[in-house]
Amino acid sequence: MKQLTAQGALAVVGLCIALLLPGVLHSQEEQEPPLMDWVGESPHWEPGQEFSAVVGSTWIGSRECLYCHEEYKLDFLSTAHARSLHKAEISLDRQGCEACHGAGGGHQMLRSRGAIFAFDWEDPEHETGICLRCHEWLTTSREWERTSHARASLRCSDCHDPHQSHDSGMRFLLLADVNELCISCHMTTAEDFRGFSHHPVQVDPANEPDGGVLNCTDCHEVHSGHGPAMLTQRKIKNLCLSCHIDKGGPFKFSHMSVDDALGESCMNCHAAHGTGNPALTLMDGRSLCLQCHTERSEHNSPSTCWTTGCHHAMHGSNNDPFLRF
Ligand code: HEC
Ligand code: HEC
Ligand code: HEC
Ligand code: HEC
Ligand code: HEC
Ligand code: HEC
Ligand code: HEC
Ligand code: HEC
Ligand code: HEC
Repeated sequence: MKQLTAQGALAVVGLCIALLLPGVLHSQEEQEPPLMDWVGESPHWEPGQEFSAVVGSTWIGSRECLYCHEEYKLDFLSTAHARSLHKAEISLDRQGCEACHGAGGGHQMLRSRGAIFAFDWEDPEHETGICLRCHEWLTTSREWERTSHARASLRCSDCHDPHQSHDSGMRFLLLADVNELCISCHMTTAEDFRGFSHHPVQVDPANEPDGGVLNCTDCHEVHSGHGPAMLTQRKIKNLCLSCHIDKGGPFKFSHMSVDDALGESCMNCHAAHGTGNPALTLMDGRSLCLQCHTERSEHNSPSTCWTTGCHHAMHGSNNDPFLRF
């Protein structure tokens, strides 16, 4: 529980008066630290508590906030939040600036830091808790709290800017273009996409202006804790087949390596992002197949097991049990 009480707030108002009228209310000045010198985090909110940093604050409406914080006007008013959270039928705790910052009456009175939720908390859950008051589907259907992102203490504002500039041109209040945003933290992943063969995701806009048709978010749903690696599908094979349907059969002669029963199926032979080998394969040449077919190591093919006219249909065949065509 970390909220200011109305009593405390009043004490500070008292302090202001005391400064103007020396001698009056002097004892209260000594009891309460002055808010004007507020250092450290602003008070935070927890479910069940009144939605304000100063207990007993009134709702004042965004117009009042913008009177003092004019710099947010143009930007905030163009966001989905301003459009959706400025309607008479919506309850006051879900409207405008106060939907996130809490009732501002106490802060208006004190004109000070530390008297309003300021998203300056060490604990990321104090922030996500406020966003999730409304975006609860992130928890109920996407299991946000199970994602590697939540577990790595990411905050919503690491990727989203609630007061996004009106001319930023980014959808979903994102801080940057999707791939650029992901790469800003996942720099080693960007390296994968510079590999000899790779999925066409643009990681160097300057060098390859036409470099991509895919986004990271075609395969990843970064708010979802379902399945491995926050993928859009619970099974990697289903993800791959959503674009490469022809590799899934059903074939008259299937290749068990493509079967889910053998672990990661497509990932037995392919990397997801990029590799130094043709066709995103994990290894070049025979060694790819010899991962499993150790009994064939004497089977001396000149380069690979599939390019030399032998097992060309290694994803499955309708013609030949030895997957040759
Ligand atoms: C009467 C003028 C006034 C009004 C009205 C006002 N503010 Fe402020 N606000 C201030 C001042 C002054 C500061 C302190 C700025 C500083 O110290 O840099 C501040 C600081 C803040 C901060 C940063 C607090 C911190 O602890 O870092 C936030 C967030 C904020 N205001 C939001 C709001 C919101 C939301 C509203 C409307 C509910 C609002 N303000 C209404 C004057 C006002
Ligand atoms: C959707 C939630 C949301 C809404 C609505 C919202 N804010 Fe904020 N506000 C935030 C978050 C999150 C931060 C912290 C941002 C950051 O660290 O990048 C913040 C930070 C601030 C700050 C402090 C900036 C600083 O540098 O310390 C001020 C002032 C502020 N908001 C004012 C407003 C005003 C005025 C409005 C209405 C016009 C408003 N906010 C509406 C979420 C919101
Ligand atoms: C009071 C309820 C409420 C709170 C609190 C809230 N949101 Fe929202 N948010 C909404 C509504 C309503 C929409 C619009 C949904 C729509 O248009 O379908 C929205 C839309 C969004 C969008 C999509 C924007 C777009 O352009 O499509 C993002 C991103 C978002 N919110 C992030 C946040 C973050 C981050 C926070 C916490 C800092 C937050 N929201 C807090 C209600 C809220
Ligand atoms: C790692 C970056 C990242 C983090 C952290 C993150 N988001 Fe997002 N968010 C995105 C991206 C990227 C999109 C756009 C999705 C797309 O393109 O399909 C998005 C879209 C959204 C949308 C609108 C799309 C929709 O499906 O309605 C909302 C609302 C949203 N995020 C809320 C949140 C909230 C609330 C949090 C914190 C609990 C959060 N996000 C944390 C990256 C992030
Ligand atoms: C602010 C930094 C940041 C941003 C931006 C960010 N991530 Fe992450 N991401 C992390 C951290 C930290 C982890 C957890 C540690 C790790 O695995 O590297 C993580 C983990 C992941 C994982 C691994 C999941 C697992 O369970 O193995 C994936 C996938 C991922 N992020 C995708 C994305 C995508 C896609 C985007 C862009 C929409 C994105 N990230 C944006 C910081 C970030
Ligand atoms: C074609 C689909 C696809 C695209 C596009 C994609 N990923 Fe992945 N990503 C995957 C799959 C599948 C995995 C799981 C790999 C595994 O388990 O071996 C993965 C794993 C990851 C991981 C976990 C660590 C690792 O490397 O295995 C991170 C982080 C990640 N992706 C980030 C990104 C980022 C950032 C982008 C965009 C630049 C991106 N991904 C684009 C499919 C994709
Ligand atoms: C969202 C669609 C999408 C998903 C999902 C997807 N791919 Fe792709 N894949 C593509 C596109 C687009 C290309 C490029 C096709 C081209 O250049 O003709 C491609 C190319 C490939 C290639 C050939 C690369 C080369 O250099 O010749 C392989 C192999 C491949 N994907 C495997 C996979 C695997 C394995 C998965 C699952 C982890 C997967 N793909 C998921 C869209 C997708
Ligand atoms: C036994 C290893 C192996 C498995 C398992 C495997 N592949 Fe492949 N795949 C290959 C090889 C080798 C090539 C290169 C073929 C060539 O050069 O003709 C290839 C090529 C591809 C290509 C690009 C060439 C083309 O024909 O379009 C795609 C797309 C592809 N695989 C998708 C998949 C998907 C999706 C899965 C999982 C359902 C999968 N692969 C499972 C070995 C495998
Ligand atoms: C992840 C393990 C794995 C990998 C990697 C793998 N296979 Fe297989 N393959 C199997 C299994 C299991 C069977 C069916 C069981 C059996 O008969 O040995 C099979 C069957 C076959 C068959 C059918 C004939 C037979 O002996 O039953 C051929 C041909 C074949 N694989 C070729 C390849 C080629 C070519 C590659 C490399 C592109 C490859 N395999 C990679 C696991 C694998």
